[in-house]
Amino acid sequence: MFDARYSIRTHVAGALRAANVGETVTLAGWVHRRRDHGGLVFIDVRDRSGLVQCVFDPDASGAAFVTAERVRPEWVVKLNGTVRPRPEGTVNTNLATGEVEVIITSAEVLNSSETPPFEIDSALDTDETLRLKYRYIDIRRPEVMETFLLRDRVTQRFRKSLEHRGFLEIETPILGKSTPEGARDFIVPSRLSPGEFYALPQSPQLFKQLLMVGGVERYYQVARCFRDEDLRADRQPEFTQIDIEMSFITQDDILGMMEEVMREVMHEAGVDLKTPLPRLTYADAMDRYGSDRPDTRFAMELVSLSENFATSEFKVFAGALSSGGAIKGINAKSAGDWSRSKIDALNQVALDAGAKGLAWVAFPTEGDVRSPIAKFFSDAEMSGLREAMMVEPGDLVLMIADAKDVANEVLGTLRLKMAEELAIARDGFETLWVVDFPLFKWDAEEKRYDANHHPFTRPFDEHLDRIPADPAGALSYSYDLVMNGLEIGGGTLRIHDAALQRSVLGVLGIEAEEADAQFGFLLEALSLGAPPHGGIALGLDRLIMLLAGKHSIRDVIAFPKTSSGSCPLTGAPGPVSQRQLRDVHLRTD
Ligand code: AMO
Ligand code: AMP
Repeated sequence: MFDARYSIRTHVAGALRAANVGETVTLAGWVHRRRDHGGLVFIDVRDRSGLVQCVFDPDASGAAFVTAERVRPEWVVKLNGTVRPRPEGTVNTNLATGEVEVIITSAEVLNSSETPPFEIDSALDTDETLRLKYRYIDIRRPEVMETFLLRDRVTQRFRKSLEHRGFLEIETPILGKSTPEGARDFIVPSRLSPGEFYALPQSPQLFKQLLMVGGVERYYQVARCFRDEDLRADRQPEFTQIDIEMSFITQDDILGMMEEVMREVMHEAGVDLKTPLPRLTYADAMDRYGSDRPDTRFAMELVSLSENFATSEFKVFAGALSSGGAIKGINAKSAGDWSRSKIDALNQVALDAGAKGLAWVAFPTEGDVRSPIAKFFSDAEMSGLREAMMVEPGDLVLMIADAKDVANEVLGTLRLKMAEELAIARDGFETLWVVDFPLFKWDAEEKRYDANHHPFTRPFDEHLDRIPADPAGALSYSYDLVMNGLEIGGGTLRIHDAALQRSVLGVLGIEAEEADAQFGFLLEALSLGAPPHGGIALGLDRLIMLLAGKHSIRDVIAFPKTSSGSCPLTGAPGPVSQRQLRDVHLRTD
């Protein structure tokens, strides 16, 4: 609880209520707003708890009245006075303190302020870079403060829930060796070892596994992670994970426990999470939603039309099927009356997402069909299409013929695009597990296999045999936590056997010598009594963003970076002196 003890005040502004009427109080805070009403001056005084109206009257306030005439927005003041009810008709029901006001008897200016670069109340209309440059002013906004309060409550709840289940909070190094989470490392030159570098952790992955080898059994950390990648609304170069690892567990144990923890955490944020959470395999998620992080707040599922068009004379469809591909579609309800130009724009979205084209059939009204390609369809194909897509008047059916993965992915993109365009209501916190990811994914550009999660993920026991011949066919013990179409967490069971770890690294093209150089310490640990173990990491920033109803994780981080990775407030990154460079044995040209 935030109260006035251990401070120069007797009360916090936002807590004053009718019950305080008659009390003498000392407040301290910022001048939020000042109104001069001829004979009387009103000042709303704001502190972290909220604000209260203070009244300065030339008779009752004495010298304080002169101070009140002098102060300006964002000056810092200390005020003494008496709480009284607001006069009839001036009660403000929108304000927690709206029943009362404080008649001031003495005032002290603790600090003045230059005119702020933007008004607190109109900060939202202010350019974000300016807000970030003066983030400490931005933070004075109640809306920002509320986000921090939420973040604090949620973080503390994670701690409590995990501690309650026997998890130990242990810190792991920031100056470390590269961990392969798929992004670029931030590196730090070493002064003591010329020419050598630390890497900032992309996650505590390897250390948490070593803690399991060390017998910790249940570990967690509110861990800062660093990844040098292109930034987006839900990505920052440094972000926070609730990082968790457990020994002697099955995948169901981790998922079950995390559901309990998440239910407690969401409850803290006022959301009732229904458990057990639905589980969707990766294959089903791709098949039905065209995404491994499906937004399940609305349907518009992908439907296979391959069978319906098996003997199609439309060459695009026939061609896709004969080369082993698929034809799939979605039904965008109520877009049946879209103009040609709007549909052409969708065509571009499909092309950008990797399609060769977009096939569409609009059903604007009963009995009416608009489509550049329907003329190629037989009556049976047309009625089969209506049935498969459950067509009603007003619908627009979008179809992609391509390799199945491409068709899925493109339709997944179109599905989200249509939800946005049609302003489909997407409420609530739809949360689910996506499980059973493939162990590897093929990197067509580099012509090699990549780890789908990371190289320490354990393959399905029954798929071990097929790895050498068909790496892409092997599934893994892996799970992502998805909320409202966002990946808010991910984890896996780990390989705890050194030989298996070596062979998986081998598939990734990391041969014995390199494996020893890069991961020798892990391989050694795995051969020294490593227990079976697994874990998960939740993206705290993303979770808070969703809970706070924000659209960027910048809004829930105290001092975030811009999309170019810089900090407008401090100017980081910045140059360093020649001397500092020499110390770490670096030269710039
Ligand atoms: P992963 O890489 O999936 O797993 O990360 C876990 C979660 O962290 C969040 N996240 C991010 N949030 C903000 N900005 C970023 N740049 C960013 N990158 C990731 C996501 C993601 O789901 N060591 C493994 C976990 C494990 O296997 O236990 C790991 O880091 O919400
Ligand atoms: P074309 O015969 O290539 O002119 O294509 C005829 C129609 O089919 C156009 O409207 C294209 O956008 C569409 N089309 C082309 N390729 C595909 C594809 N792979 N999947 C779905 N529609 C396609």
